[in-house]
Amino acid sequence: MRGLFITIEGAEGSGKSTQIDLLKTYLDKNKYEIVLTREPGGTNISEAIRNILLDKQYMEMSDTTEALLYAASRAQHVEQFIKPALEQGKIVICDRFLDSSLIYQGCARGLGIETIEEINKYATKGLEPDITILLDIEPKQGLKRKEDQKELDRIELQKSEFHEKVCNGFKELAKKHPHRIKKIDASKSIEDIHNEIISIVSDKISTQH
Ligand code: TMP
Repeated sequence: MRGLFITIEGAEGSGKSTQIDLLKTYLDKNKYEIVLTREPGGTNISEAIRNILLDKQYMEMSDTTEALLYAASRAQHVEQFIKPALEQGKIVICDRFLDSSLIYQGCARGLGIETIEEINKYATKGLEPDITILLDIEPKQGLKRKEDQKELDRIELQKSEFHEKVCNGFKELAKKHPHRIKKIDASKSIEDIHNEIISIVSDKISTQH
């Protein structure tokens, strides 16, 4: 039996980590076999690539290099971690996946969604999430949350127009894939968002298993 591949997407400071922790607790309590992972990252090699991607000492990185590094990190992650876990019937919850590349590199960097899809078809060998939760947040609100939490990384340090393109890009993508991408208003309370996520994920589990 193939497991279930759930991805969580959203702009900076949308509250993904909090919601992923709550979802994990809920699924654990209900005895599902789940694994949590993230992009860029999830394997030793992919985490090493993440360090390069987010390091603000590399502000000169070209957009093409950035897109290819995200795809390379993903290729290793899919092959070494995600596919084997799905083949073992597990529920894989991934903090960001291909949609982040479509929006950050395709829309916000302006490389084009088709180009990014093409590169990533090769990297993922066609693997797609079964369901995607999009936490929809206004760019200013999200960045303010991040600034309060930590020192900003190379991507977070991009100009405000970049972050606006990210937020709008995600909204448009959700409209294009209404069956897969479920948009939730991230300005709601943590508990309300959690309840919406549980309802979406439970529905998916019951139709899939
Ligand atoms: P995180 O802060 O949510 O862990 O994500 C790391 C950063 O990398 C975040 O600013 C979004 C960015 N990113 C991309 O630009 N393209 C991608 O494909 C992924 C997965 C993340």
